Amino acid sequence: MNGEPVVQVRGVSRHFDVSRPWLTRVFAGEPRRQLKAVRDVTFEVERAQTFGLVGESGSGKTTVARMVVGLLPPTAGSIRIDGVSLTAPGPPADRQRLRRRIHMVFQDPYASLNPRWRIERIIAEPIRAFGLAHSNEVATERVNELLSLVGLHAADRSRFPHEFSGGQRQRVAIARALASSAEFIVCDEPTSALDVSVQAQILNLMRDLQERFGLTYLLISHDLAVVRHMADRIGVMYLGRVVEIGNARALFRTPRHPYTRMLLDAVPDISTRGRPDPDIAGEIPSPIAPPPGCAFHPRCPFAHERCRNEVPALLDGVACHAVHEGRPAA
Ligand SMILES: Nc1ncnc2c1ncn2[C@@H]1O[C@H](COP(=O)(O)OP(=O)(O)O)[C@@H](O)[C@H]1O
Ligand code: SF4
Ligand SMILES: [Mg+2]
Repeated sequence: MNGEPVVQVRGVSRHFDVSRPWLTRVFAGEPRRQLKAVRDVTFEVERAQTFGLVGESGSGKTTVARMVVGLLPPTAGSIRIDGVSLTAPGPPADRQRLRRRIHMVFQDPYASLNPRWRIERIIAEPIRAFGLAHSNEVATERVNELLSLVGLHAADRSRFPHEFSGGQRQRVAIARALASSAEFIVCDEPTSALDVSVQAQILNLMRDLQERFGLTYLLISHDLAVVRHMADRIGVMYLGRVVEIGNARALFRTPRHPYTRMLLDAVPDISTRGRPDPDIAGEIPSPIAPPPGCAFHPRCPFAHERCRNEVPALLDGVACHAVHEGRPAA
């Protein structure tokens, strides 16, 4: 509980073995194949702030989220939450305590809420699991309080998830996150399945709750408009790597990486948008065989020879040879 960042992700990579079955490989003379979903990712999230992670589908965002909440071990690198390492062996009690303080909210709340449970039970489950209420009355009171905090009614407690709209279900998912007294919430595309008008309501609710309870968010979205609405700092991912990172306002005012510029040109503002995906030139290549050098070079109008051979380092918040060399890249 000091000025240290809540989340410290250092040099984290995650590879998946996507080889075909052994016998098939032997006959076809194929080597094993590794999919490098996340490569050498480093970022921090400060207490009571929102760090936005943005990038097209397939850039590795969900893999980062799963590692940060401890659902998936990294292939390399370290993750610390509130000073406790998720990646190095340590006292189980520390990790147990940590688990209560981290919560994940998914894109599709319907898939993450038990369809056969009433809302009351869904929200009360973390309260019971972590022993946060001494009696049923206290738990009931807490559920009512949480429902009201997320803008639902006490009467909603006896309904089932399918009786709610998508936005209301996401409110339930948020109430559930608060029920465990989570302080750090990882939201993976929390509003991507919702209508634009409902998206803004949910994002505003998340912001209100953040101010009220000092919550720390890792907000993941393919949609820069969503991230812009919420984030204090932003990391832009491309094919598993962070290509630009920095203060949100500065990044929107003066994006430096050619990929960030493309994303920004495609999505101007949350109020004027309607497209589900940024409409940018070219397709994201396969992470099984990423282009050599700067993985963005086949789509980049500023690519030079060096870009095809040498991976640009993330220096001063941007990973681009043109920017580092002071070449025009705008
Ligand atoms: N369990 C897995 N096994 C094999 N490949 C995976 C697995 N999880 C994710 N991937 C691959 O890793 C890449 C990044 O995926 P993901 O993290 O879901 O990206 P995003 O959330 O940005 O869309 C994708 O190419 C995806 O197919
Ligand atoms: S390193 Fe080269 S290819 Fe990559 S973004 Fe910069 S200019 Fe474009
Ligand atoms: Mg994803």
